[in-house]
Amino acid sequence: MGQKKTVVLGVTGGIAAYKTATLASMLVKSNLDVQVLMTENATKFISPIVFETLTGHKCLVDTFDRNFEFNVEHVALAKLADVVMVAPATANVIGKLANGIADDMLTTTVMACRKCRKILAPAMNTEMYLNPVVQDNMKKLEGYGYEIIAPASGHLACGDAGLGKMPEPEVLYEYIYREVAFEKDLTGKKILVTAGPTQEAIDPVRYITNHSSGKMGYALARVCAARGAEVVLVTGPTAVPKPLFAKIIQVTTAKEMFEAVKEEAEDADIVCKAAAVADYRPKAVSSEKIKKADKVLSLELEKTDDILLYLGSRKKPEQFLCGFAMETENLAGNSRAKLEKKNLDMIAANSLREEGAGFQNDTNRITLITRKDEIPLPLLSKEETAVRIIDKILEEISTRR
Ligand code: CTP
Repeated sequence: MGQKKTVVLGVTGGIAAYKTATLASMLVKSNLDVQVLMTENATKFISPIVFETLTGHKCLVDTFDRNFEFNVEHVALAKLADVVMVAPATANVIGKLANGIADDMLTTTVMACRKCRKILAPAMNTEMYLNPVVQDNMKKLEGYGYEIIAPASGHLACGDAGLGKMPEPEVLYEYIYREVAFEKDLTGKKILVTAGPTQEAIDPVRYITNHSSGKMGYALARVCAARGAEVVLVTGPTAVPKPLFAKIIQVTTAKEMFEAVKEEAEDADIVCKAAAVADYRPKAVSSEKIKKADKVLSLELEKTDDILLYLGSRKKPEQFLCGFAMETENLAGNSRAKLEKKNLDMIAANSLREEGAGFQNDTNRITLITRKDEIPLPLLSKEETAVRIIDKILEEISTRR
């Protein structure tokens, strides 16, 4: 994340409060200024010292608490906040916020926040959560512009199993990341991203695939959503966590990916084809498991549709098409040839020979190739690489006008 932004984190009296410490730590590590406000009851579940140590700021509880950083604490913090999240949010604090009751530092501050996004992560027993009063209060708050994160289902502290668990810190982090990580320079744009490998069945047990992890495409989808785009992610089978703020279309084969992409590309402003699509599939899929027989087994393979070639041949003038190339030799030459052949606007070329680049890694070293230039990027995380790819695409689009 860029320059320091302020996250006001409200913690109320629920057992999930212990998870909020992990969230605070993740936010601090992302170079965010984190100010924690607790209710009196929250301090019974977790000591303010935990948050004070993690954030370097005094944790305020009572309306009249002072840390001497500001004059009128709740107003100053409300003005400073780039985003406010209350996690966990109890039925009690939801009720107070929905009905204008401000009787401690947390509720006064949240109510004094007008300019920034306010997000609540309710956590409570299922019956309490489903209570019509709580449901009405949450609807009311949504009407006032609050964002309510749906609780997860699972084992609850009371011994019941059901709805009401606070989502994991990683999930809550994504909501804050979306608010503060980037300027919303992709608002109004639909971006289609493909990611991961495809699997082409040989028989009911075996398939042909490749080493693609999906990380590069997923990083692109996540960054685009955080920059304000409407994102559609068409993905082959991967083990990476799905980006939260994208429409996900899960596919297995090149054919399924082709069908999904054809439909979604129609009104896409930008298409990034990071998927490693199989170029060939078995001509016939055996309906039974193929048994061992002779020493040699030959499989007849047929070509799959080249999705990118299809998109390039139908590209609308205002559309931007970015392909990906993975090469083991002649990186620039082979990639440029693909750029021409498939009528792309840009190709992100990576060499399998480079240290830290390519499949499975969390880093990448790519060269961005357009018709007029060739920009080698340094070794970067896949997230930073995604940012640079999008920056370059926006620069290219702006020079079209
Ligand atoms: N691609 C695609 N459909 C395919 C094969 C590839 O859309 N059936 C896309 C990939 O998503 C990627 C780009 O084409 O963006 C480059 O893929 P690559 O396999 O390197 O290119 P090919 O044209 O298949 O060339 P080769 O395998 O000979 O290197």
